[in-house]
Amino acid sequence: MKLLMVCLGNICRSPLAHGIMEHLAKQQGLNWEVDSAGTGNWHVGEGPDRRSTRTAREHGIDISGQVCRLFKVSDFDYHDHIFVMDRNNLGDILSMARNDEDRKKVKLLLGDKIVPDPYYDDAQFEPVFQMIEKGCKEIIKELV
Ligand code: 4NP
Repeated sequence: MKLLMVCLGNICRSPLAHGIMEHLAKQQGLNWEVDSAGTGNWHVGEGPDRRSTRTAREHGIDISGQVCRLFKVSDFDYHDHIFVMDRNNLGDILSMARNDEDRKKVKLLLGDKIVPDPYYDDAQFEPVFQMIEKGCKEIIKELV
């Protein structure tokens, strides 16, 4: 199974989702490949935001080796599922979909709720971690 986590900057939320899902899948012995990407190009080539790296580390997850990249149309071909954080991400990714097969792969990580952008509020990183972790556990339950 190949999963892609997507947010706007690919430095705050999707790197957390990438690291958390990788961690949980490994813990459960699932041979899943997880990656992340952004819809905006401001931080391409950079590592995750330090606040995400620190929050993940506090939960025993190392995301420091991740490198920010842009979502590309071929991600629809490579991945089985594409999980986005909010409705802007959803609209941006769906606008790049070529057909129904592409569209079917794209879902909000939390199903019917959004993961808010913590970029402008340091205090949101821990709650965002918790939300993403819960969402990842739900996804594993659904897909396994
Ligand atoms: P993310 O947060 O989408 O969770 O990675 C953001 C990070 C950076 C920016 C926006 C959102 N930015 O505008 O640079």
